[in-house]
Amino acid sequence: LDTDESIVIGMLGCGVVGGGVADRVLSGITFRAGRLRLGGVLVRDLSKPREPSRVRQHLTTDAERVLNDANIDILVECMGGVEPAAKHVESALRRGIHVVTANKALIADRGARLTAIAGEYGVALRYEAAVGGAIPVIRTLEHLAECDEILEVGGVINGTTNFVLSAMEGGRPLEQAVRDAQRAGFAESDPSTDLEGIDAAHKLAILSATAFGAWPRWESIARRGIREITLDDVEYARSRGCRIKSAAWARRIDRIAIVASVGPTLIPIDHPFAAPRDAENVVLAIARHAGPIILGGVGAGREATASAIIGDLADILRELGRKNSGAPDNEETRYA
Ligand code: HSE
Repeated sequence: LDTDESIVIGMLGCGVVGGGVADRVLSGITFRAGRLRLGGVLVRDLSKPREPSRVRQHLTTDAERVLNDANIDILVECMGGVEPAAKHVESALRRGIHVVTANKALIADRGARLTAIAGEYGVALRYEAAVGGAIPVIRTLEHLAECDEILEVGGVINGTTNFVLSAMEGGRPLEQAVRDAQRAGFAESDPSTDLEGIDAAHKLAILSATAFGAWPRWESIARRGIREITLDDVEYARSRGCRIKSAAWARRIDRIAIVASVGPTLIPIDHPFAAPRDAENVVLAIARHAGPIILGGVGAGREATASAIIGDLADILRELGRKNSGAPDNEETRYA
């Protein structure tokens, strides 16, 4: 990339998170390596209302129009689900296009394969937005894993279930709280994915791979959902000085074995896992030398997740800028 050149971002998906990214790019973001420009945006339905509406002129239902654009530098994938996202991401990596994705299901299922392909083709595959929304979880764990040995990792990593359980503490029944979470844009298109712990298992698999250096099968993570939790259970927890949280945890047993689980857990009120309210998340890693490290923030929703994607774009551009110019590491972001 030459200075002053536009960096063209192609996109797959323009829902809650994709719309947030498109909005930020269209509002104008300039990095030292150049200004971000929006290319084609793949959607399934051209007639659906979009936020922001000015993204309309970028929309296409033809993936090749996005991927085959000779100008595209980075693909941002926000379409969700394993296929066809995997096929498109793989195709982009093989064409030398860097990829940033928010797709937990994709990375949990295909992370090993896609990172190997990215390595083979010398391009970046970043997925900070896949776990913990705005919280810089992946980069922190990558750094910690490089300089220490991570023994345990986990947290409260599904915003929807946390939002629902928080609302239940205020007396709101589960079904109504789920509808609120859907309206707020936290829940997956099928909220069962959140309520049955599948989304948290995807994220725990990614945390585990980042912390321990091997991709587990996410399906092998022991998993329980929150559908059976009642207002009486929530009240019982309160009477015992606890909160019910959907907690995810992975622990290394030896060099090759890991135990991992996701499910509703009684958490004492003064434990870090009791702290997140609404769609907030918390991640705790325990390293041999560093001890416990706790990260918290907004774990779901349009702005928080888009912000992690913009962070990944900044990282890729900083790396490209360094490779191309040997410039010092003092990237600068300006907003128009
Ligand atoms: N449905 C997910 C959640 C979105 O509620 O945490 C963010 O990954």
